[in-house]
Formats: sequence, structure tokens, C-alpha cells
Amino acid sequence: ESGLITIDPGYKNTGSTKSAITFLDGEQGILRYRGYRIEDLAEKSTFLEVAYLLIYGELPNQSEYEKFSREVTTHTLVHEDIKKILDGFPSNAHPMGVLSSLICSLTAFYPNSLDPNRSAEDVNLSIVRLLAKMPTFAAWAYKNEVGHPVNYPDNSLDYCSNFLKMMFALPAENYDVDPVVAKALDQLLILHADHEQNCSTSTVRIVGSSHASLYASISAGINALWGPLHGGANQSVIEMLEAIKADGGDTKKFLDKAKDKNDPFRLMGFGHRVYKNFDPRAKIIKKAADDVLAKLGVNDPVLDIAKELEEAALNDPYFVERKLYPNVDFYSGIIYRALGIPTDMFTVMFALGRLPGWIAQWKEMRENNEPIGRPRQVYTGANERDYVSINKR
Ligand code: SDX
Repeated sequence: ESGLITIDPGYKNTGSTKSAITFLDGEQGILRYRGYRIEDLAEKSTFLEVAYLLIYGELPNQSEYEKFSREVTTHTLVHEDIKKILDGFPSNAHPMGVLSSLICSLTAFYPNSLDPNRSAEDVNLSIVRLLAKMPTFAAWAYKNEVGHPVNYPDNSLDYCSNFLKMMFALPAENYDVDPVVAKALDQLLILHADHEQNCSTSTVRIVGSSHASLYASISAGINALWGPLHGGANQSVIEMLEAIKADGGDTKKFLDKAKDKNDPFRLMGFGHRVYKNFDPRAKIIKKAADDVLAKLGVNDPVLDIAKELEEAALNDPYFVERKLYPNVDFYSGIIYRALGIPTDMFTVMFALGRLPGWIAQWKEMRENNEPIGRPRQVYTGANERDYVSINKR
């Protein structure tokens, strides 16, 4: 501490705002969007309905839902010039980098989105455009990586089916979306839709607090999510499980590595800043993994390794003392893989799910006229000293 400034690394004990969007109880493992239990929404709602709930605060009635869905559907197409941007990326560009660039490029196609004082209907149009074009950008980022031609959106399909078709359809053969896959994806997106003031949401808020455009704020959030300690963890979990499998499946060996302070290895998909109990999303995803893999007739050996690892960790004093439980990223990659989603698109899927939450949080921050984010510091550098010319150094 120094004077009035209290340093709180990682803001572990600092509240940055007041919000009416999402409620977490880390001790009880509770998660609610606008008061609705995540368990109910995951079972009974759809991703677009949850997006409406998070952004506008209430569940839509039938006509509101149909109007919203139709608006999103009619904005899925992107300007042909986007292809020029896409062509500028090497094929080894990580899809998250392509996605954040394409989202930010929307400020060029919709320059009025740079006006911080534009009308509410203009802001809503930006919101609908973002929800509509993110799946197109995500699928195109993947096509850039695999060297396949991009697919245009098919407005006769629902949100997830349209995304899957843009991802996997090829000119050489027809592609029919498997409704089991579309439904499983829809539920995963619901489970990722918001999570109060996590790292990427706080990024969206602080960038938006300078009155940067919604597109620039979301682009920043995508980059924050990319980190392996945050949304990137779902990709790291699968890489870790594959490594354990390749190493002969000795989960105890990797558990010991995770406990070794001298070893930077961490049990990816475990632990959480807020949840000191089971992450309720992890519980739902773990059950969904069994259901979806059974329905698709997929037998993935890393699912068994994951369950063995979880069981061992939950009975290991190191993890129990630190209240380390599986988080949302621990099982999600296993389902994405069963759905045919390639590993380095897992974090893009997280971004696709988190988009409505980021939008809702940005909107709340702007509607509350919150001040520009500008934390202070405690200075620990050199005292005042005179300049020394280079020939005297
Ligand atoms: C997400 O914030 C959100 O809500 C995020 C998220 C969302 O929906 O937006 O839920 C999504 O990001 C989930 C988290 C995904 N990340 C991972 O799975 C990466 C592995 N997890 C850890 O890196 C860690 O648990 C964090 C980053 C998730 C949380 O870090 P904290 O709160 O800063 O905790 P910490 O690093 O201070 O750890 C506390 C102790 C430490 O040991 P000690 O120094 O006290 O002896 O627990 C240990 C850590 O070493 N620890 C782990 C561990 N996680 C914490 N040890 C081994 N393996 C782990 N996974």
C-alpha cells in the first residue's frame, strides 16, 4: 500500500462495476443469466433466445423472438471486400487473430459505428450485425486455414446449422447438418454466453469506456479470450489430454507435474478465480459429453482420461486444499471434437458463445455512462536523476 492507493494484482478483491446481467456464486457454484438458472436455460432455451435475454434483459415473447431471429438472419452476409482482408492472411494464421481483425474491420464498412453518440436504433443495428456476422467470420477464418473456398450463409437455416454448413460444406459434395450436432453446439454456446467480469469481458468494458466502437471493443475481448489461462484453455485441455494419452495414459504423473512448483505445467481446465466449487457449466458439459458422443457413436479415449484425471484431482489434497475443480473448459473440447470442430477453432467457439455477454456488458457500461477506466499505480522506479550524455555513459 502507498498513501490512498491499494494494489490488488489481477483485481482478485476489486469490484469494477455494478451489473444486472449475470450472477455467480463461487462458493455454491451458482450461475444465473438475468436471474434465470443456467441449468434451465441450457435445457430449455436456445442460444439466440439467451442472447436476447442477456442483451435486452428479458426473455422474448414469440413475436419478439421471431423479429429478432429474422433480423439476425438477414444480416449474416458480409461485404465482398472482406475477402480481400481474408486473402491477406497466411493460411497458418490462428483463427482467433483472423476473427478479431475481421470484427474490427467492420468499423470501416460501417463508419457511423465510430460515432459514440449515435441513436439507440443504430446501436441495435450494430448489435444485430455483430451477432449475425460473427459465425460467418468464424467459418471463413477456418476456411482460410484449410485452404477451402468460403461458403455464403444459408438464411433458411437456424443460427448453429448455418454456422456448421459454412464451416464444413464443400463445393465438391453436399453437406447436411446433423440436428444432433446443431443442438449440442447450441447448448454449448448458451453455456458460454456470459460470466460477469471475467478477463475478456473486463477488456471489452475498459476498451468501450474510452468510447471506442462496439466492434473495436469486441475485437479487444476476442484477443483477451485467446490466452491459455482464459478461453484458450479449452484448446490447451485437449492438447494436455492428448499428451497424457501419447505418454501412456499415466494421469498420476501429470497430476504430480501440476503440483510441482518448479514445473510450469498446470492442469488445464482446472481451477477458477471465482468458483471454489464445481463450475455448474462443467457439470452440464460433462453430462452432455456422454450423451452427444453416444448419440454420434463416437468413442474418444481422451474422455476416459479426462474423467480419470478429474477423479484423481478431486481426491488429491493439493487440489482439494486449493478448491480446484473442473471449469467450463475441461470437457468442452471433447464435445467440440466429436462435432468435428478442429482444435484451434475451440477458442473461436468460446468467442462465438461469449459474444452476447460481451455485447450486453458493453451496452450496460455505456448506458450507465461509466467513466473511462484508468487505474492508478504505486511507483517503484528510479528516483529523480539528471540526463547523462551518451559519451559519458
Ligand atoms: C475461463 O473468470 C472467468 O469467469 C473465466 C471463465 C469465463 O467463463 O469467462 O470461467 C473461463 O477462463 C476458465 C479458466 C480456464 N483456465 C484454465 O483452465 C487454466 C488453468 N487454470 C489456472 O491457470 C487458474 O486456475 C486460473 C487462471 C483459472 C485462476 O487463476 P487464479 O484465480 O489466479 O488462481 P491462482 O493462479 O492464484 O491459483 C491458486 C493456487 C496456486 O497455488 P499456490 O500458489 O497457492 O500454491 O492454485 C494453484 C496455483 O498454483 N492452481 C493450480 C491450477 N490452478 C490454480 N495448480 C495446478 N493446476 C491448475 N489448473
